[in-house]
Amino acid sequence: MSQKLDALSLLAERRSAGKLTDPAPPGQVLDRVLTAALRAPDHGNLRAFRVLVIEGDARRALGELMADAAQRENPSIEAAGLESAKKKALRAPMVLAIACTPKPSPKVPEIEQVLTAGCVAHAILIGLQAEGFGAMWRTGGPAYDAGVKVGLGLRAEDHIVGFLYVGTLASEPPAMPRPSLADHVVRWTPS
Ligand SMILES: Cc1cc2nc3c(=O)[nH]c(=O)nc-3n(C[C@H](O)[C@H](O)[C@H](O)COP(=O)(O)O)c2cc1C
Repeated sequence: MSQKLDALSLLAERRSAGKLTDPAPPGQVLDRVLTAALRAPDHGNLRAFRVLVIEGDARRALGELMADAAQRENPSIEAAGLESAKKKALRAPMVLAIACTPKPSPKVPEIEQVLTAGCVAHAILIGLQAEGFGAMWRTGGPAYDAGVKVGLGLRAEDHIVGFLYVGTLASEPPAMPRPSLADHVVRWTPS
């Protein structure tokens, strides 16, 4: 996965990396990837997206927020469940929370602003792979939990479109079956 690929090959060969280890991408690499990814298509150039870079001990604080969310979701959660929720943020040396703070706009509905944040997230995955790093997009309950959002400095009504777990591949990710043109593409003609 660390070899350089052209754009189409990168899109086709993208793989989520569930098993990640140190090191996280160094600052210069991350900045290059983020600079490219922030060029996502954006109706009205509202720039409603935000990327929160969470690494080192900040991941432990994110883990606490995630555990609180797990407890809200399941008030009778057992200690082991809480411990596992706390550790989730430590699965990778870096977590990128991709958020959307929708802006009022007469012509750009909120869903389009959320889609732009999703495009940013996808572009980050591609960019990191291009630079030889691994990543995986995850959500789960914490992404939709108001307490997590507020704890991260967002508003309860904002969106976390995903947590991207980022690092160096600990093992080669499995090849996933890819959607086929036949199943998903139709040449539409008017009836
Ligand atoms: C919005 C979104 C949320 C996701 N959330 C999770 C998640 O919480 N847990 C998970 O295992 N995979 C999640 N996935 C899927 C993985 O990121 C990944 O796409 C999937 O495992 C397939 O692997 P591939 O990307 O290599 O095809 C999510 C994907 C998207 C787009």
